[in-house]
Amino acid sequence: MQSSSSSVNSKPLRKVIIPVAGLGTRVLPASKAIPKEMLPVVDKPVIQHVVEEAAAAGFTDIILVSRSGKSAIEDHFDVHYELEAELARKNKDAILASVQSTLPAGVNISSVRQAKALGLGHAVLCAAPLIGDEDFAVILPDMLIPTPAKQESDLSQMVAAYKAHGCGQIMVEAVPEDKVERYGIVDCNGESPAAGECADIIGMVEKPKPADAPSNLSINGRYILPARVMELLVDTQPGAGNEIQLTDAMANLIAEGGKLMAYTMCSKSYDCGNKAGFLEANIVYGLEHPETKDSLRALLANII
Ligand code: G1P
Repeated sequence: MQSSSSSVNSKPLRKVIIPVAGLGTRVLPASKAIPKEMLPVVDKPVIQHVVEEAAAAGFTDIILVSRSGKSAIEDHFDVHYELEAELARKNKDAILASVQSTLPAGVNISSVRQAKALGLGHAVLCAAPLIGDEDFAVILPDMLIPTPAKQESDLSQMVAAYKAHGCGQIMVEAVPEDKVERYGIVDCNGESPAAGECADIIGMVEKPKPADAPSNLSINGRYILPARVMELLVDTQPGAGNEIQLTDAMANLIAEGGKLMAYTMCSKSYDCGNKAGFLEANIVYGLEHPETKDSLRALLANII
């Protein structure tokens, strides 16, 4: 089903929840003393790439769900008076501008704490007081999704589809069947929407065994959800991995007659929560960055 440009949904969509309370065990020891979200992809921490993606898609309110020991993330988006004064004194204008624009213009950032690691659904529920009764997005910051030059980002296309179809959108990507156990898997009644298109979801399951998976369409870290999902999370019991799963609350929404669609991504995702994905992201982003692309290209050509 193609998304159309005519708008049927005029509700405000401005808030995005970014869970950042994970311990980063897959990228230790790098993440021992700094949050994994602060590891750099070229010249910006992973979290800044994600916040910029949200701002470019029109979101104005970022809500971090954090934990103790991760305040470097909040500091990164705050004013650093001493550093800024020093850069200004030395007339380092370009660097000063980069330090002052870590938080995109017009964007507010706030954070809540997730005291116990009870699962993604629980992390999202921790942001409920700041979401109120609004529809909202969720971005999993491990997944970096570059926007190809001169194209709309996948998140922007999901916002357009949300407005056009009047329902939540879940980003999906086809994965090999032996990998379905790592992801939430959606059931589109046999349909597999082409890149940039969406299809109705009739069910979903978190981390199924390959034999039980309804498809190979994995949920991939970007969600636009109706406010009702937050209410459903309140009563969602621990599921896969004994954690409160966002997937289960979304499945309950569909079971009670709510509508969600699966949006197939156009770009490619890089999972910066593991070592290989993090390195790949640095190479892909490094090959785009004006200051690094030539030397990196030469290095890669030399090595290969
Ligand atoms: C989470 C979600 C899962 C999704 C995955 C990748 O799992 O619960 O549905 O497929 O992220 O976006 P996690 O990787 O936190 O176990």
